[in-house]
Amino acid sequence: MTEYALEVEHLRKTFGEHVAVDGVSFALRPGGSLAVVGESGSGKTTTARMLVGLERPDSGRIRVAGRDRSNAARGRATRLARAREIQMVFQDPYLSLDPRVTVAACVEEPLRLHFAMTPAERRARRDELLARVGLGEREADALPRRLSGGQRQRVAIARALATEPKVLILDEATAALDVSIQAQILDLLAEIRRDTGVGYLFVTHNLALVRHVADDILVLYQGRVVESGPTRDVLTAPEHPYTRLLLHSVPRPGWDPAGIAADRRALATALRKTPPAPAPDRASERRSVTP
Ligand SMILES: Nc1ncnc2c1ncn2[C@@H]1O[C@H](COP(=O)(O)OP(=O)(O)OP(=O)(O)O)[C@@H](O)[C@H]1O
Ligand SMILES: [Mg+2]
Repeated sequence: MTEYALEVEHLRKTFGEHVAVDGVSFALRPGGSLAVVGESGSGKTTTARMLVGLERPDSGRIRVAGRDRSNAARGRATRLARAREIQMVFQDPYLSLDPRVTVAACVEEPLRLHFAMTPAERRARRDELLARVGLGEREADALPRRLSGGQRQRVAIARALATEPKVLILDEATAALDVSIQAQILDLLAEIRRDTGVGYLFVTHNLALVRHVADDILVLYQGRVVESGPTRDVLTAPEHPYTRLLLHSVPRPGWDPAGIAADRRALATALRKTPPAPAPDRASERRSVTP
């Protein structure tokens, strides 16, 4: 049987009456890259938060490297082991780094927590991780406020990689950066994936970015998967009307925001009237043969 880096089955999460995530299933092969796309409020972050244990699913199954983590972790050792395997990089590097902690100490913290290392080994590994993301001694001694947004996001990535995770979740991790810095970070992430074999889950509403970073794509609409498959297929020949609408929503010459907004309302009404069809999954055939 294939062992996925990450496997999710029928994940569901409600907040009061509101169903935020409604029966979401997908799989990520080791070293793969999957983009989870959908408009604001479609349940992307809630899904990501359940994967890293920041939110408890109402039901469904989560397996990381073949190990089930659907139930709450009991005990420190289990919590640590789980944290090692999936790490997350958040959108806002200004909020995700402790302003009182130097870059060096910030990267050393997970090393201290997860590995038995001598101080010298830890420093060496820290420098290796910082070099990996293009940061040197000068940045290592700095507090986050002295760094640019791009540099901070590099620190967040180095810190996340410290535990040698199987999966890195990037929740709009480059959305707050200007486009040239965004390109640099994406390039860096591609390089890291090639070198380490870490798998990525890109959470984004930016379809232009997906084309460059993800092998497969999962389209969420109101908490449900409406389409999934290889990125190229989904982007060039979308099957679901919502995916088509998302693609039309990308600004370009001749772009018509009012028309898109009207289509968006019509689609919401139409989909409310018809029960959801099972999501077409063009990756399923491939999944059964690739490791
Ligand atoms: N802690 C919470 N309590 C109540 N409702 C919540 C909570 N977290 C999320 N929601 C709701 O669940 C739905 C999904 O939210 P989520 O943050 O997952 O969307 P998203 O796809 O990440 O959106 P965005 O692109 O804006 O980040 C939204 O309607 C949101 O208001
Ligand atoms: Mg979000």
